[in-house]
Amino acid sequence: MQHQERYIWPHKDLLDVTQLSKADVMHLLDLAGQFHEINQRPVKKVPTLKGRTVVLFFAEPSTRTKTSFDMAGKRLSADTFSLAKSGSSLVKGESLKDTALTLQAMSPDVIVIRHTSSGAAQFLAERLDCAIVNGGDGWHAHPTQALLDSFSLNRAWKGQFEGKTVLILGDIAHSRVARSNVHLLTKLGAKVRLCAPRTLLPAGVHTWPAEIYDNLKKAVQGVDAVMALRLQLERQQAGLLPDLREYANRYCLGLDHLKEAAADVKVLHPGPMNRGVEISSALADAPQSLVLDQVASGVATRMAILFLHATRKDEGDR
Ligand code: CP
Repeated sequence: MQHQERYIWPHKDLLDVTQLSKADVMHLLDLAGQFHEINQRPVKKVPTLKGRTVVLFFAEPSTRTKTSFDMAGKRLSADTFSLAKSGSSLVKGESLKDTALTLQAMSPDVIVIRHTSSGAAQFLAERLDCAIVNGGDGWHAHPTQALLDSFSLNRAWKGQFEGKTVLILGDIAHSRVARSNVHLLTKLGAKVRLCAPRTLLPAGVHTWPAEIYDNLKKAVQGVDAVMALRLQLERQQAGLLPDLREYANRYCLGLDHLKEAAADVKVLHPGPMNRGVEISSALADAPQSLVLDQVASGVATRMAILFLHATRKDEGDR
């Protein structure tokens, strides 16, 4: 592929969106746009990363992130290798550090890591020479999800984030997606609202650059996009929610709620969805829903992320 302008990517690793300048984000989204065009062609493979190696180290389950990074690497002609926790020597007690040093000894260009522990990606980034990309760490951050969400909105809004309001709804407390999206959407100029029952808001949320609501009907008024989040029952302590049906009655986003939103409101969900809990099935499949567009955006955005991090060292050779 041809990449027209010279932009020196300043980051060895991608740990969170907070490390990115607005110019970095715009460059990445622009590059993802070029890869998105390639993904519409009958033949979607280009030789851009031929000879590069990408390791997908997923110590936590994933469908979208793992598959789209794998597909992104293969469409760029990189060699991709997957390591899951089950089936690896992690289950025999090998430490994260020794596992990572073992992987590095095989000379990959990029390791994408997903891990249950917040800070796992940073832990590797401080110890390894190859690029580390955070595919989601604990409750902390999911930068590639936030970037693909902004890629979808950027296309829907033709690059205009200023003046737009995005509502993030649901289990904010346990959501790395919410944390990364609040920072990224604010950086791009959008206003952010959060809506959740008090027990599903994280400590310190009042210091975040966002307006807080607990009433969905009020929160949705006039918004340009709503992102519903999965109720992460596997990460919750018992007792945070008295009753799942009561939660759905108050916070399940449905078609009726959109009457209060902007006329061309967009609906996002990072997946996996609990239909009927945080989003109604009818809305998940409605024309306003960008859910599958987000998945397609994930491949293009992750192609850009792999390209920038796998080729960064080449700058010195040019
Ligand atoms: N949104 C997201 O991270 O989905 P997966 O867990 O399927 O990767």
